[in-house]
This record gives sequence, C-alpha cells and structure tokens, in this order.
Amino acid sequence: MKKSIPVLVGLALLSAGGLASAANCSIVLDSNDRMQYDQKSIEVSASCATVTVELKHSGKLPKTAMGHNVVITTEADATPVAQAAVKAGAANGYVPAGDKRIIAATKMLGGGESTKITFPGRALKAGSDYAFFCSFPGHSALMRGKLVVKP
Ligand code: CU
Repeated sequence: MKKSIPVLVGLALLSAGGLASAANCSIVLDSNDRMQYDQKSIEVSASCATVTVELKHSGKLPKTAMGHNVVITTEADATPVAQAAVKAGAANGYVPAGDKRIIAATKMLGGGESTKITFPGRALKAGSDYAFFCSFPGHSALMRGKLVVKP
C-alpha cells in the first residue's frame, strides 16, 4: 500500500500539468452591482476553433441602471468603440450594429442574468493587444480588461 501513494501523487501532478498547458478557449466573467468584472486579464489561444464568452451578472440592479455586457476589440479600438456604443443607445443594447471593429459582443444583462456566445479563434491574432470591456455608458473606464492572445 505504501508504495502506491507516490505513484498516485505523480499521476495527479501529471494530469494537472496537462490541463494547465492546454489552450484556453473560454472567457468566463462575472460582474456585479459595483460596476466590476471579476478579472482584469484573460488569456486565450488563437488556435481555438471557437472561443466561448460567458458572462454572469451576479448583482440585483436592472439592466437600465447597471447593465453589463462584454465587447471584444483590439486595444486600440476599445475607446472609440465604447464611444460609438454610447451613441448606438439602449435600443441597440449599446453595441453599434455592423461595426467591423467589434470582434465579439454579448447582449446586455441585468442583475441575475447570464449569457454565452462564441466566435472563431481565427478572429484573433497571437501577440496582438486586445481588450474586453462593458459598453454600458460610463462603465468601460472601470469595466475593462486585457485579452492576451497566445498562438
Ligand atoms: Cu457594465
């Protein structure tokens, strides 16, 4: 019995290492009534056939007062797209329709809601700078993070 324990530990470490080195193909974010995401930086791989974006709003406030979404653009496009989103208005979920600078955008959520979308990994280029942010008016200053893209 004693001899088998180190073997089991070794196997557990091996499988944990295997999981850690696998390409990450999902962006999972939580958000709240304090106008925050739970993460500042997320790493994904451009080799993913599809990248999944999951957003949860754990707050209680309605969409009209504390709406949250996730918009993904290049770092350079984030601020101008956030400005265009305010102009797009509530009727468009604060996402400018047909804007080619937007790589992915979820719908706007109110407290207690969640959503999930996917986009192709090939929309991202490894080594380039990307941002994720909430396009609700006034939120992107706080609700903005870095999307690091690996090969
Ligand atoms: Cu928001």
